[in-house]
Amino acid sequence: MDKMEKIVSLCKRRGFVYQSSEIYGGFSGVYDFGPMGVELKNNIKNHWWKWMVQKRRDIVGLDSSIFMSPKIWEASGHTKGFSDPMAECKECNTRIRVDKVLEEIGVLADEKMSEKEINKIFDEHKDKIKCFKCGKQNFSKVRKFNLLVKSNLGDFTENNDNPAYLRGETCQGIYVNFKNVIDSTHLKLPLGIAQIGKAFRNEISPRQFLFRGREFEQMEMQYFLESEIEMEEYEKLKEYRWKASLDLGLKEENLRWKQHENLVFYAKDAWDIEYNFPWGFDELEGVHARGDYDLTQHSKGCGKELEYYDQENNQRFIPHIIESSAGVERTVFAVITDAYTEEEVNGETRVVLKLDKKITPVKVAVLPLSKKEELIKPTLEIFENLNEKFICQYDDTQSIGKRYRRQDEIGTPFCVTFDFESLEDKAVTVRDRDTMEQERIKIDDLENYLSEKL
Ligand code: GAP
Repeated sequence: MDKMEKIVSLCKRRGFVYQSSEIYGGFSGVYDFGPMGVELKNNIKNHWWKWMVQKRRDIVGLDSSIFMSPKIWEASGHTKGFSDPMAECKECNTRIRVDKVLEEIGVLADEKMSEKEINKIFDEHKDKIKCFKCGKQNFSKVRKFNLLVKSNLGDFTENNDNPAYLRGETCQGIYVNFKNVIDSTHLKLPLGIAQIGKAFRNEISPRQFLFRGREFEQMEMQYFLESEIEMEEYEKLKEYRWKASLDLGLKEENLRWKQHENLVFYAKDAWDIEYNFPWGFDELEGVHARGDYDLTQHSKGCGKELEYYDQENNQRFIPHIIESSAGVERTVFAVITDAYTEEEVNGETRVVLKLDKKITPVKVAVLPLSKKEELIKPTLEIFENLNEKFICQYDDTQSIGKRYRRQDEIGTPFCVTFDFESLEDKAVTVRDRDTMEQERIKIDDLENYLSEKL
């Protein structure tokens, strides 16, 4: 099994991630998060919120709706320009994303290119491209395919010619609420607005597990400022996001910066933080300097002034924006990949998820050595006490060795075991996930001991 297969298997086996609609044969590009996955996901989102809202005086939160006026997607350019080039294998009907396939052989297909231009490049390199499913080289013409997902919300006609879209990115909800936030808070620029929420894209070829889905969550922060300080603040934001990624526990050697080679016409600069996924470095999040494009477009689109009034200098201007945009699922995938460790213990392979303690789904497992009645009652008492303070799990099924392995695989930093001796010495064994060392700790001191360690 390669690393990718091992990670996918662990995610399913231990309740992190399941394929959507699995009992019906699955639903492509959509994933469900199990009991461990939802905890990990929430911890990642809370970590981001802490860094991007709670630690900052100059950033506030927002929770805008998934459905918005279709006019928003016209003004932002998504109805016309938000597309990927697609070709279909004529042998097995598998769809390929032409820009990604060309990138793999070192050819750049710019998103600004017309269908005609991409077809020309694709034809020139067709002999080097094989269908990843059947291996044949018989492709259709390249077509540009819009990624916005349509719905019939509020439309009771047959033709649905003005569809409401499921949002393709969360930041549009931030742009269209900029004026509301300024008017209702009286905050001054520079000001950031952050939000976490679902986004939907009709991805042509959703592959690579959680990396590219059709339904996913974004964590986006849009920072509104005067043009004079845009690039200075942009550098600060890049540095801040790098620090936050390290604080999440990602190893520095598995992270790197990559600058965009082809900037969209309005952008001043664009870099991605890339993570070393099982197939190599790929985009984890983007940090972009967007100029005044977004508010200018929405001002034109809605016909209202979206200028900011700077009282001190008696000036009006359209704010520029720098953004940080990260995917929740990609971050879940990155932290699991980073933490996945195999170790040789007494001739057997131990799989352990060395997640940062801040984000582990469970902090402490509380285990009776066996299912004997006299052990279960006091163990449950310890569980009830500790669970007030840390997220704990009680487990009494199977041998203690198997239970330790299960906790290792979900990344639980500490296992507390109540044994027969505990009845006499009023102490328990605490096992450390990483070193597997065991210490005897008095039950009365247990909470303090774990507080210090966690
Ligand atoms: N507002 C800017 C924006 O949406 P993007 O590069 O299209 O930019 C930002 O997306 C981030 O959202 C990506 O870096 C990635 O982490 C995540 N993302 C984008 N498409 C995704 C998909 N299909 N599945 C999972 N995550 C995705």
